[in-house]
Amino acid sequence: MKKILVTGGAGYIGSACSEYLLDMGYDVTVFDALITGHRDAVDPRARFIEGNLADRELIMDVCRQGSFDAIMHFAAFSLVGESMKDPGKYFGNNLANGINLADAAIAGNVKTFVFSSTAATFGQPEKTPISEDDQQIPINPYGESKLCFEKVLKWYSRIYGMKYAALRYFNAAGATALHGEDHRPESHLIPIILETIRGKREKLMLFGDDYDTPDGSCIRDYIHILDLAQAHELALSAPESGHYNLGTGNGLSVFEIIKAAEEVTGKKVNFEIAPRRPGDPARLIACSDKARRMLNWKPRYESAHAIIESAWKWQLKYPEGYAK
Ligand code: UFG
Repeated sequence: MKKILVTGGAGYIGSACSEYLLDMGYDVTVFDALITGHRDAVDPRARFIEGNLADRELIMDVCRQGSFDAIMHFAAFSLVGESMKDPGKYFGNNLANGINLADAAIAGNVKTFVFSSTAATFGQPEKTPISEDDQQIPINPYGESKLCFEKVLKWYSRIYGMKYAALRYFNAAGATALHGEDHRPESHLIPIILETIRGKREKLMLFGDDYDTPDGSCIRDYIHILDLAQAHELALSAPESGHYNLGTGNGLSVFEIIKAAEEVTGKKVNFEIAPRRPGDPARLIACSDKARRMLNWKPRYESAHAIIESAWKWQLKYPEGYAK
């Protein structure tokens, strides 16, 4: 049975990925500082270590003693807007603390490292869909911190022989039966739409209807968290290091997501057009042919309806999120 260390396993994508790995019979240890994650999101079948990657000695000990076959590194700060106000927070956690983890991986002789990267490493893309080899020019410290860590992994792989996969998620969305999206405060489109439908918030502020897109709102590529989890598991057995863009390849506008949510729930979304949100590119759509070809990745949630339906079920089951 393979032993996996999951950093950030109390977070949105890390908790769903832990659940997926445990269902497949992996031995999972979650390492999480519980800053943005939730203790209740840690799968009860996993071992749990509460710790911060800033604590270099701690993560060194964990990796030296854990005999892990692989690390999946989800732990990070991920708010674009916040990174524009507090870049040090992003470079500190996502880069400097990441280096502690990379050093610990080497010290613990961990052979494989799977990293949660992001479409934000591409910045304003020159074309869509975006391929792995397209230019990466981040337009915010969040994207830059993730790109820097991709480069750290490239050099660690070259120098120490550790295999890595950098998985660049587009817009992670949806829920499993047990794990869903609960950011405090919530800033992501789909949970905000569903909270508005439930009456938990008054309205959705729609950031910009004057983009150069058919309906004027931003286009994104929403990918289900279980499809991301599948890619992580497949990346464990990739023969060599690589970078992979993960999305469905279907771009949907904010208006189209609102319409899909109304169809799934049978209820109207109250929204108001607001100014553009700084740092939002008009279109982010993945070309994920490489992951399909090289990892044999087959996303199962191809429609926005199926993704939204899973998030809706989770919100109805856990109306207050992970709060008791
Ligand atoms: N949006 C609104 N109103 C809201 C929230 C979002 O109109 O209240 C719009 C945004 O302007 C954007 C779209 O909905 O056009 C999606 O926004 P999200 O905040 O849900 O997601 P982002 O595309 O901004 O961000 C996601 C990840 C980031 C990552 C980025 C690029 O959350 O971590 O994709 O990969 F950096």
